[in-house]
Amino acid sequence: MANVVKLPSSKAAGNNSSGGATVQSGGGDTLTVTLPLLKGTVGPAVADVRALYKNQGVFTYDPGFMSTAACQSGITYIDGDKGELMYRGYPIEQLAEHCSYLEVCYLLLFGELPNRTELEKFENTVMDHTMVHEQVATFYHGFRPDAHPMSILCGVTGALASFYHDSLDIHNPRHREVTAYRLIAKMPTLTAMAYKYSVGQPFMYPDNNLSYAGNFLRMMFAVPTKDYEVNPVIEQAMDRIFTLHADHEQNASTSTVRLAGSSGANPFACVAAGVATLWGPLHGGANEAVLKMLQEIGSEKNVPAFIAKVKDKLSETKLMGFGHRVYKNFDPRAKIMRETCHAVLKELNVKDPALDVAIALEAAALSDPYFIERKLYPNVDFYSGIILRAIGIPTPMFTCLFALSRTVGWIAHWMEMIGEPDQKIGRPRQLYTGPVRRDVPNLAKR
Ligand code: SDX
Repeated sequence: MANVVKLPSSKAAGNNSSGGATVQSGGGDTLTVTLPLLKGTVGPAVADVRALYKNQGVFTYDPGFMSTAACQSGITYIDGDKGELMYRGYPIEQLAEHCSYLEVCYLLLFGELPNRTELEKFENTVMDHTMVHEQVATFYHGFRPDAHPMSILCGVTGALASFYHDSLDIHNPRHREVTAYRLIAKMPTLTAMAYKYSVGQPFMYPDNNLSYAGNFLRMMFAVPTKDYEVNPVIEQAMDRIFTLHADHEQNASTSTVRLAGSSGANPFACVAAGVATLWGPLHGGANEAVLKMLQEIGSEKNVPAFIAKVKDKLSETKLMGFGHRVYKNFDPRAKIMRETCHAVLKELNVKDPALDVAIALEAAALSDPYFIERKLYPNVDFYSGIILRAIGIPTPMFTCLFALSRTVGWIAHWMEMIGEPDQKIGRPRQLYTGPVRRDVPNLAKR
């Protein structure tokens, strides 16, 4: 039996009265109720409110899901206070150091790291699915040449559903596994095609003799008129960036994929919904916004003025790439990204003023009480844009690469959710604040 603890109801402002389980109409009342406490393997316990409405006739209220666990999951664990991130129990630092992105994909999907035979089979299967139907190319030509690549990726990812809708039984584990292979394999192809379309160059077919990251770089930067040599340092940095972005618990885009999937929607459509959500500048779109911010600041001497602007609420200016709903300490991915950033720029002998500004900005923010009091630290997006730009990825493509990397996380959560025996469609309720019942007045009387 789970421990049972008395949980105070949602704290009504200024109302500290304690009382029995009294639920009165009108505002300012409190509810005292005993709820079962459910515990996971690590991290906060949850108060089980599933029977609350049935037993008490009230809903919980948590619009930003600040205190809400929407599901149970065994995929990724984050400790925001410690700045800890684990995929299936393995710390992100060790995975980034010792594993390839496809090893991490296998881990996220199946729960264990593959042995050599399993990895080889998985790699071959993924690489065998990298091509897209020839008709997919025609979708691209419907977009304006200056379309944002994320608008293209949203569209073509959803369009994949039209190629698989009839051959997909989401309740068949084998079909779910094939879908995982298809999406992981095809997102780099779709992403590279979005870039090629935006620069007016021909699409490059995948080359299955290359690594996952190497194949992506070739599809992005090769042209039919000459050979392309994958730079191993960039290939490794790309692969590591994919790993760092692979999954992150119940973030906004993953929660969107889960909610879309709970209706039984086609997984390609669900991932397209994830792509759309990730695009927001508060989420995956932050990496593009960080680079724009660094370019606007221009040089280290302008950092103090920018910090002052951020602290002035009226300016409505955020320090992009800083802060996180969960991390109240360093985002472990930001630390690895910063190290990778220095290594890539050194290897490529690139001097990027944006990096100098980023380092000065980070130092200023980390020593400023405004940021310290609010526990604002660099997140995964703070340095990623600088590396991507050094590699030659244009800024508007940054979030597409985030979506490419996160597809495995979205699919792992979709598979976990669909596979749950008591899976139900997600259907939140609300606190209604609109007009009470009234009759329609005759037009002449309005
Ligand atoms: C990602 O959820 C995930 O896991 C996401 C992600 C993933 O891998 O999926 O980690 C990827 O989305 C990383 C976050 C990328 N976004 C940005 O870098 C955009 C800038 N950051 C913020 O907008 C903000 O920090 C959020 C959206 C990330 C988190 O916002 P919260 O948790 O709702 O926090 P909040 O807005 O309530 O902020 C608390 C306080 C406020 O000040 P006060 O009202 O208390 O005075 O901190 C301030 C905020 O104004 N604040 C910032 C700030 N972030 C928060 N002030 C300046 N700059 C910022 N970046």
